[in-house]
Amino acid sequence: MTESPVRGSLAVWASEALRRLVQVCVGGALLDMPPLLQLRGLAYRLMFPCGRGLVIGAGCLFLVPHGIRGGSLRIGRDARINRRVEIDYSGGVHIGDDVWISQNVLIETHDHVPSRKPKHEWRIASGPLRIEDGAWLGANVVVLGGVRRIGRGAVVAAGAVVTRDVGDWEIVGGVPAKLIGCVEADTS
Ligand SMILES: CC(C)(COP(=O)(O)OP(=O)(O)OC[C@H]1O[C@@H](n2cnc3c(N)ncnc32)[C@H](O)[C@@H]1OP(=O)(O)O)[C@@H](O)C(=O)NCCC(=O)NCCS
Repeated sequence: MTESPVRGSLAVWASEALRRLVQVCVGGALLDMPPLLQLRGLAYRLMFPCGRGLVIGAGCLFLVPHGIRGGSLRIGRDARINRRVEIDYSGGVHIGDDVWISQNVLIETHDHVPSRKPKHEWRIASGPLRIEDGAWLGANVVVLGGVRRIGRGAVVAAGAVVTRDVGDWEIVGGVPAKLIGCVEADTS
C-alpha cells in the first residue's frame, strides 16, 4: 500500500461531489424498473469506463473518499452490481467480465494508519484491487484495503470479511475469510 496524507484540492473535491450527486440522482429505487434501468446504466457509463450489459441496482455509491488523488474504476462486460454496493476506488479498482457483486457489499481500497496523533493527521494507505472475470461476492461482504486480487471465478460467501487475496476458483467465507471450498470444473 502506498501512503499519503489526507488532502485534496478544490478541483478534486468538486469533481467528486459531482459524481456523488449524479449517483444520488440515478440511485432511487424508481429507476430499478427495466426501461428506466437503462438510464442509470448510461449515467454510470458516462462517469466510468464500463463494458456492455452492466446492471447496477439502487443506492450504489462508487467514490473516492478524503480527497485522495488518483484512483480509477473500470468495469467489464455483463457485470451485475446489486443494491447498496459501495466501492471506494481511491486505490484503483478493476472489475472483470461477468462479475456479480451482491447486496450491501463494501469494497475498500484505502485504509487509515492508526497512530497516537489526532485522526486528521493520520496517514492514508491505498492500493489497487482486481476482481477477476467470473468472480462472485455474496451479500454483505466486506473487502478490506490490503486485498489486491480476488481470483477468476472465485466465490466470496455471504457476510465474509476479506483480508487477503483470494485465488482462482476458491470459495472463501467467514471473518476473516478462509478457504471453505473450491468451484468444481464443469465436466458436463
Ligand atoms: C458460499 C455459498 C455459495 C455456498 O458454497 P458451497 O461450496 O455450496 O458451501 P456449502 O454450503 O457446501 O458449505 C461449505 C462450508 O462452508 C460454510 N459456509 C457456507 N456459507 C458460508 C458463509 N456465508 N459464511 C461462512 N461459512 C459458510 C458451511 O457452513 C460449510 O462448513 P462446514 O464444512 O464446516 O459444514 C453460499 O453459502 C453463499 O454464501 N452464497 C451467497 C448467497 C448470497 O449472497 N446471495 C445474494 C443474492 S444474489
